[in-house]
Amino acid sequence: MKIEVLTLFPKMFECLNESVIGKAILAEKFKLNVTDIRDFSLDKHKKCDDYPFGGGSGMVMTPQPICDAIDNVDPDRLCKRIFLSPKGETLSQSLVEKLSKEENLLFLCGHYEGVDQRVIDSEIDMELSIGDYVLTGGELACMVAIDAIARYIDGVLGSSESTNEESFSNGLLEYPQYTRPQNFRGMLVPDVLLSGNHQEVDKWRYNEQLRITKERRPDLLEEK
Ligand code: ADE
Repeated sequence: MKIEVLTLFPKMFECLNESVIGKAILAEKFKLNVTDIRDFSLDKHKKCDDYPFGGGSGMVMTPQPICDAIDNVDPDRLCKRIFLSPKGETLSQSLVEKLSKEENLLFLCGHYEGVDQRVIDSEIDMELSIGDYVLTGGELACMVAIDAIARYIDGVLGSSESTNEESFSNGLLEYPQYTRPQNFRGMLVPDVLLSGNHQEVDKWRYNEQLRITKERRPDLLEEK
């Protein structure tokens, strides 16, 4: 997979060079190309925003630098083009999995009060939100989406970290995990996990998943 990102704040994406995602990029499990929209501004001061027609507070990102940047990174329209916005479809594990099957993704990150609507109407395939709250820009939302999507790309997770057994993969929240020591500050690991009886362990874990999901997210059980 190749992921294109268009942003006014490319340095924010340096944090994707850390940890699991950073290793995957180094190992070329997927490609990430971050483009500074400002580099495409034809304005002599590299301006990328202007006052909204009709008045109102804040500034709006102008279409020229964004559209020229998009034309440059995706001239043949091979990418699924996504604009990060609280107005978009809410990201879920099933949407993450669906997006992970795309060959080419392009994320456009907005800032200020928004992006000129003509960019969205003419260039964008879908709008994506990461939840019902408003961020100062699309960058953090974009990184959340990339992190979640990349986990489904072959070779990004080690075999021990597979996406099969985690929260949401079977529609339930994850069971609790324990490691050494067996007694930590007087708190003991549940006996069943030390029993060596895999059937019993599996049964306990499944029951814990049900218990925690019922307690915290009963809506997930209704969906099943
Ligand atoms: N930009 C600002 N808020 C956002 C959100 N919740 N999701 C995606 N993009 C955003």
